[in-house]
Amino acid sequence: MYDKFPFFNKGKAIQNEPTAETGKIPQHVAIIMDGNGRWAQKRGLPRIAGHREAMKTIKRITYEAQHLGVKVLTLYAFSTENWKRPKSEVDFLMRLPEQFLHSYLAELIERNVQVRVMGDMSRIPENTMRAVRQAIDRTKSNSGLILNFALNYGGHAEIIHAVRTIARKVQEKRIAPESIDEQLLANNLLSPSLPDPDLLIRTGGEIRLSNFMLWQLAYTELYFTEVFWPDFKEEDLKSAVYEFSRRQRRYGGIKDKGSENK
Ligand code: FPP
Repeated sequence: MYDKFPFFNKGKAIQNEPTAETGKIPQHVAIIMDGNGRWAQKRGLPRIAGHREAMKTIKRITYEAQHLGVKVLTLYAFSTENWKRPKSEVDFLMRLPEQFLHSYLAELIERNVQVRVMGDMSRIPENTMRAVRQAIDRTKSNSGLILNFALNYGGHAEIIHAVRTIARKVQEKRIAPESIDEQLLANNLLSPSLPDPDLLIRTGGEIRLSNFMLWQLAYTELYFTEVFWPDFKEEDLKSAVYEFSRRQRRYGGIKDKGSENK
């Protein structure tokens, strides 16, 4: 069935070296890291073993993205809907940022990576927040890849947050309703300083957005692969970036924006 979808990769890595030659590197790559549970179950392991393995993939893909010239990598680490999972799995997932940063923060600093988070931090456990705050603080002057974790993040919640902020300003008569435009709404989202993703990758075989960056993905190129996140390798990222480099982005117009001056 997936053969009908040219954007769906069945796990076959494309051999071509992408990008440097084509000059089309996605500046911002967003990833829905799906398939951890199934990766573990396939091996007769508990689901959490998949999440543990996922951290190694995060590290590898972060460095490969940086190597390819990607500027921002946003990873969907925990959604506002993930609270519905069994408490033991939620507790485990909530400890992952701390474990990840404990294992890799020194290396991230050395590699000039800047760590950020976006989401509703009010429900994040104190230990996790402490580790996250420390990582943000210790990497804030780094000028390399921005590694942005979407943590307790939901696209609907983000838009509601922006609308409420704007509504308050209107109520206080600080802005007129007529001045509400796309730019103003975008400025009130959770990561206003980041460009919209150019490329969205979802691993694990599902073809949906699952409430991820709904506003920002309006013109993003979508790439789906059956590969489970713990199995997602540098070559798979290259395949996705290569596929991106072949796409023509027209933003509703008739020409690829990137080809305007060519
Ligand atoms: C989806 O797989 C994955 C998640 C819900 C969690 C993703 C979290 C990580 C990869 C780790 C986050 C780490 C840091 C450092 C913040 P799934 O469990 O839905 O897999 P399934 O679809 O096979 O069940």
